[in-house]
Amino acid sequence: MNILFMGPPGAGKGTQAAVIVKELGIPHISTGDAFRLAIKQGTPVGLKAKSYIDQGLLVPDDVTIGIVEERLQQSDCEKGFLLDGFPRTLSQAEALEELLSRAGSSLDHVINLNVDRGLLMARLTGRRICKVCGASYHLIFNPPKQEGICDIDGGELYQRPDDNEESVGKRLDEYDNKTAPLLAFYENKGLLRQVNGENEIDVVTSEIVSLLRG
Ligand code: AP5
Ligand code: ZN
Repeated sequence: MNILFMGPPGAGKGTQAAVIVKELGIPHISTGDAFRLAIKQGTPVGLKAKSYIDQGLLVPDDVTIGIVEERLQQSDCEKGFLLDGFPRTLSQAEALEELLSRAGSSLDHVINLNVDRGLLMARLTGRRICKVCGASYHLIFNPPKQEGICDIDGGELYQRPDDNEESVGKRLDEYDNKTAPLLAFYENKGLLRQVNGENEIDVVTSEIVSLLRG
């Protein structure tokens, strides 16, 4: 099953993707995670991406499409995949269509997580992430059992450098200007399904699972 999660920054794409990929046994392809890993490893892609990400701007299409193209060619994607955070521009969406159709494949589900803009700022500035496993927590909405420590592996929690008010504001503007228009692109293809991302985390998960089963 080939799935795409859409939604503004902080809508819960990463949180939901972690559960769904485990359930379905398919790889989670997050361009944000791929860029953060490249930055940590100091690769040429990482060096290029860093200044854009720190400012809350989208990384240029050629760099981003290259990463996804390489990832989709890996054999574990043959059984399906979950894309999170890609595509984010019309050019990326068209490139994805071409990549998939060359491989005789296509998207099966596009799920959009709807969350009011006012809530997104609070979600992102309160987010904390595990240094070891990448699990996402929230100081108020999804706190770990012990402050600053991951429930799963005891890893230390940290705040993403782009989760400050200024970068989040820019990320939301980038979303409105460049990514929101993609909803119509997938709506026109009859693929788009809406989910209320403001519900509790496990309620959102159940809604997604029932859409995928449907
Ligand atoms: P990326 O890492 O993809 O960030 P994003 O889209 O801004 O999304 P987030 O990870 O911030 O949010 P999310 O929806 O996953 O929310 P989460 O589940 O963590 O991209 C980062 C940067 O990389 C971009 O700004 C750009 O520069 C670059 N980039 C990436 N892809 C690109 C592309 N295709 N093209 C160009 N550039 C690209 O949840 C957020 C918080 O809310 C958490 O604390 C969580 O615990 C909490 N939460 C989640 N669900 C709920 C709920 N239902 N109720 C209450 N709290 C909840
Ligand atoms: Zn952890």
